[in-house]
Amino acid sequence: MAITLNTKFVNDFIRDDEIKGIAPAVSAAYNLVKNRNGLGSDFLGWVDLPENYDKEEFKRIKDAAERIKKMCDIFVVIGIGGSYLGARAAIEFIKSPLYNNLKKDTPDVYFAGNNISTSALTDLLSICEGKDICINVVSKSGTTTEPAVAFRIFRELLEKKYGADESKKRIFATTDKAKGTLKHFSDEMGYETFVVPDDIGGRYSVLTAVGLLPIAVAGCDIDSMMAGAAEARSKYLSDSFETNDCFKYAALRNILYRKGKVTEIMAAYEPAAALFCEWWKQLYGESEGKDGKGIFPASVIFSTDLHSLGQTIQDGVRNVFETVLNIKKSSDTFIIPDDKANIDGLNFLSGKELHYVNQTAMLGTLFAHTDGGVPNIVIEIADRSEYSFGYMVYFFELACAISGYLMGVNPFNQPGVESYKKNMFALLGKAGYEDRKAELEARMN
Ligand code: PA5
Repeated sequence: MAITLNTKFVNDFIRDDEIKGIAPAVSAAYNLVKNRNGLGSDFLGWVDLPENYDKEEFKRIKDAAERIKKMCDIFVVIGIGGSYLGARAAIEFIKSPLYNNLKKDTPDVYFAGNNISTSALTDLLSICEGKDICINVVSKSGTTTEPAVAFRIFRELLEKKYGADESKKRIFATTDKAKGTLKHFSDEMGYETFVVPDDIGGRYSVLTAVGLLPIAVAGCDIDSMMAGAAEARSKYLSDSFETNDCFKYAALRNILYRKGKVTEIMAAYEPAAALFCEWWKQLYGESEGKDGKGIFPASVIFSTDLHSLGQTIQDGVRNVFETVLNIKKSSDTFIIPDDKANIDGLNFLSGKELHYVNQTAMLGTLFAHTDGGVPNIVIEIADRSEYSFGYMVYFFELACAISGYLMGVNPFNQPGVESYKKNMFALLGKAGYEDRKAELEARMN
């Protein structure tokens, strides 16, 4: 088992009868997932995905990854939200946040089209100068502005550098199987395409081609990742509430929310988990934050942030709880050296494993934060392997769906995301938004 829930540091904040009280509601929420009769049930394709994924496409993903590895120095993944966060989280978690700087025989992987910053784009274009490039444009809708703009720019770069025919072999599109501008354009141009299944929303799509192609290009074992997800699926879909850590996590965070703990801070002691936290924030933020409800998902990397946000967590407004990712096994070993002079006074650490010191910092912080009135749910994760990553993804996706249903929201839509788009299009003069443009301009004046 790659994940276990440790409730030692939350037990003092929750009574047994509160757990007993919420258990029937958790089962009812889970039944909405299982029986596919809750809000947004058209988007439950991720539930059985670890078993019933398209094996032919999976092979195509691995074949394309091998070709990409041979063809380029830099692989640019163009997408936003669920169309990039999972892949980036996986590469950083399994390999390293410094993956691009490591000695390796796989291409550097950069992410574009997840903002509209001129500097971010020009910096990346300058990194690409003189390098061989392949690109993967990822957009389920095929119409999202940020990736569409970046795709236009990188497509032009490739066409100028390699000519029309060669650039076709270097462009890969992941989008809807049949509809949308990107699908039509890719078919017309002859790009290889991969599918975002109809019944899987962006933020639940990391284990589809959306995440798997970039993850495989970075040299991660995607078979093992799917095996981890499949193991989590078989465990959490069969266990009863008493032994089901996934159900318990959903229950605990909802009990805390109902007691006024409106912010959940995911804390990890490995910088490699920072992007996983970003993926989790999108998953939970877009799934739960609607209809005036939802826990605000935040994240920290400790011990780094113990020297910034640590103060307010310890001592600020008591409306937060933490979910700590305890990655038990470090990918590397490092022993702190002895220094005979001991001028720095650090010889009490001589000969100790750095990971042990990190784990001890975590333990000290768990005691400090709970003493300060912050409940801490601890999620123990075996290691940073592909298998554990797949397992974690499934754990958090299922808990998120159950949690959203417990809150009485549709965990699979994101109506709020549209508001800024409408205003941006109106202000930029897109056809069809004339009335909104006039309205906003009147408000500005
Ligand atoms: O979770 C979601 O559905 C969103 O965050 C999308 O992933 C994001 O908006 C990108 O959409 P698309 O893949 O259609 O470009």
